[in-house]
Amino acid sequence: MNKEKIILTADRPTGRLHIGHYVGSLKRRVELQDSGCYKKVFIMVADAQALTDNAENPEKVRQNVVEVALDYLACGLDPKKSVIFIQSQIPELCELAFYYMNLVTVSRLQRNPTVKTEIQIRNFETSIPVGFFTYPISQASDITAFKATTVPVGEDQEPMLEQTREIVRKFNSIYGETLIEPEILLPDNAACLRLPGTDGKAKMSKSLNNCIYLSETAEELQKKVMSMYTDPNHLRVEDPGRIEGNTVFTYLDAFSKTEHFERYLPEYANLEELKAHYQRGGLGDVKVKRFLNAIMQEELEPIRNRRKEFEKDIPAVYDMLQKGCHTARETAAQTLDEVRKAMKINYFDDLELIRGQVQKFSGK
Ligand code: TRP
Repeated sequence: MNKEKIILTADRPTGRLHIGHYVGSLKRRVELQDSGCYKKVFIMVADAQALTDNAENPEKVRQNVVEVALDYLACGLDPKKSVIFIQSQIPELCELAFYYMNLVTVSRLQRNPTVKTEIQIRNFETSIPVGFFTYPISQASDITAFKATTVPVGEDQEPMLEQTREIVRKFNSIYGETLIEPEILLPDNAACLRLPGTDGKAKMSKSLNNCIYLSETAEELQKKVMSMYTDPNHLRVEDPGRIEGNTVFTYLDAFSKTEHFERYLPEYANLEELKAHYQRGGLGDVKVKRFLNAIMQEELEPIRNRRKEFEKDIPAVYDMLQKGCHTARETAAQTLDEVRKAMKINYFDDLELIRGQVQKFSGK
């Protein structure tokens, strides 16, 4: 594979990360990090973006920076292999965004489907903060500052990537080839694209209290799995059940592997057989939930344990982040230099410019 590939991705620190983040992106990131196929991997805690709709809650964002960093480390992101850093500490990103703003129209931002839904969710209507409205532009800076080729995120981020590619194309066509067009890397398992909440609602969200966090204790995890939304019409074990829209089966689609059946439910060869039995009738929810619980415990236990280890040395986590910021800043500054040069706003390091002006004013 092409060793020139560079990864950048990020999360907003508005809460601890949940298993939606995990199956949607985090797990994949660790695999990509360990694959050795990428020249660099940048993982950003997007605190500045979190502030675009949390301006009144700086403490919430600040508290969650370290929570997210701990979740990263717990999942296996390794500062020896990935640069883990905090967005607000890279002022070059703001400068890039300021220039990119000239390349995007207001109506283009208004058409961004992700921003549209987010505005609805937050009831912003006409009181949208300008910073929030323009965050797709800032996100384009995040991606291009690191010359990212590959952005592993959930499908809700596709409009952001599209916006970024448009900015890159426009910039390069006006100022010359400078920026790299990134591509999105979606989870390959459809169930992982958007894991529903434990109540069956489309999205996990802290306010709906339907999340399973990565740092959940074994007891909490079990409680959440055992009270998950299933098929409301599947009342007796003998009744045929529906698997569509049945959260337990969606989670099994995301988490179960054939080997799990051998280990925990050997009466069935695979998920297809289990689904068929459920649809036929004769298979109770509790049995399926117990199976899901076993799988999720197996997957989350090592993460939880690693997190506990990292929690023992919080200053080391901040130290790791600070080092990451330093490295990230060097890369972003390099790109910004190239951008300034392309935009002809590099007045003092361009001897040609000064020589030309001398000639102009001396009338030769
Ligand atoms: N918008 C992303 C989210 O809400 C977070 C983010 C900020 C991001 N900057 C990014 C993701 C750059 C990928 C690349 O999850």
